[in-house]
Amino acid sequence: MSSYTVHVIGGDGIGPEVTSCAIAVIEAAAARHGFNVQFVDHDWGSDHFFRHGRMMPPNALDTLRQANAILLGAVGHPDIPDHITLHGLLLPIRRGFDQFANVRPARLYPGVASPLVGYPPKEIDMVVVRENTEGEYAPVGGFVHHHHPSEVAVQSSVFTRQGCERVIRFAFELARRREKKRVTSVTKSNAQAYSLVLWDRVFQTVANEFPDIETESLLVDAAAMNFVRRPHSFDVVVASNLFGDILSDLSAIVRSSIGLAASANLDPTLTYPSLFEPVQGSAPDIVGRGIAPHGSDLMRRDAAGSHREGGSGARRGSGYSRGSGGGQVLTPDLGGAKTTRRCGRLSWRGWDSWSYARAEPDREVVRMPPAPSTGQPARPFVLRSSGGRTDAVC
Ligand SMILES: NC(=O)c1ccc[n+]([C@@H]2O[C@H](COP(=O)([O-])OP(=O)(O)OC[C@H]3O[C@@H](n4cnc5c(N)ncnc54)[C@H](O)[C@@H]3O)[C@@H](O)[C@H]2O)c1
Repeated sequence: MSSYTVHVIGGDGIGPEVTSCAIAVIEAAAARHGFNVQFVDHDWGSDHFFRHGRMMPPNALDTLRQANAILLGAVGHPDIPDHITLHGLLLPIRRGFDQFANVRPARLYPGVASPLVGYPPKEIDMVVVRENTEGEYAPVGGFVHHHHPSEVAVQSSVFTRQGCERVIRFAFELARRREKKRVTSVTKSNAQAYSLVLWDRVFQTVANEFPDIETESLLVDAAAMNFVRRPHSFDVVVASNLFGDILSDLSAIVRSSIGLAASANLDPTLTYPSLFEPVQGSAPDIVGRGIAPHGSDLMRRDAAGSHREGGSGARRGSGYSRGSGGGQVLTPDLGGAKTTRRCGRLSWRGWDSWSYARAEPDREVVRMPPAPSTGQPARPFVLRSSGGRTDAVC
């Protein structure tokens, strides 16, 4: 029996609620499909900060390095400045494990309504690929005359050719495996005339290697408008750390709720464990009510499963489209009345009917059965295995 280790950081706010639901789903899948998952729980986050003055122990990355995958809930507490919680836990993990591709799919599922009128299921189907290790979130800067009236703050963005190139290439390779085969690059190079001009140049160079992929370049303000005006036209969107962060929340909401938005922080070289989390934060305003949608966790569960040794753990598939029961298994933000746990319980039914075909020695195509409300099969996805780790690509 295959055995996998998933390190879990429930974190703050609704993080532990949605993560415990995800764990229950993984356990059900493991029992049904005959694999073993060992969960290693870490009580890191804001409570840890209150006790020890730091979000996680100094040797946290050494501990996490042992994992096949990492599952994170969220970090953020009203009594701790947000830059402390973020720079104390999530950003060091992303950078320390070189998880340079932050992949955030946004697909309109059957049974879930978009706030945009007239969009049928699957009409919105895009992935925001966000550069995840440098750019505007590079920890470069400081204060001068700290806390004096003459105080000055300096924050520098860092854009390296290598950093731009590898995430842009990742986006093109992802687009090659998708239907629309289109990559949109988002910058603000009219105003940021060094860093994002470099990005534009690298984008053009990489695009030349992919003549089969249609390309588009947008300024971020126009991109924000077009995410609302014509979300159906986007396929893979690649952007810097800050722009990708903002646009992926927008992509999440145009197809329903941020609570359904999953986020994979990938080291595509498979050298380090990758981290799977929701796009949302700790949502202190709804904590403890058990109403956060479970979709992001189910999707993270699939992504985490798909990252384990040998790939067999990934064969349990995904499918909020199945879990939503054609619209009857929804949490309040989606217009339903179910709790997080109830949705989770209803969502692991029927995985036996998923099918798997080996496309190449290291690749498998996973096909899901039709969604209950439409009878339409969901889009297949591909598993790629290498060096003891496995990666799911759309
Ligand atoms: N990756 C992370 O850990 C992460 C990401 C973003 C924000 N944060 C932190 O989270 C805290 C709160 O930040 P915020 O309010 O800007 O963002 P948030 O994502 O926590 O919440 C924004 C809004 O979306 C709603 N929402 C979020 N998740 C939901 C879900 N699953 N179901 C239904 N509604 C949901 C919330 O109720 C809130 O109204 C801050 O401390 C912030 O720094 C952490």
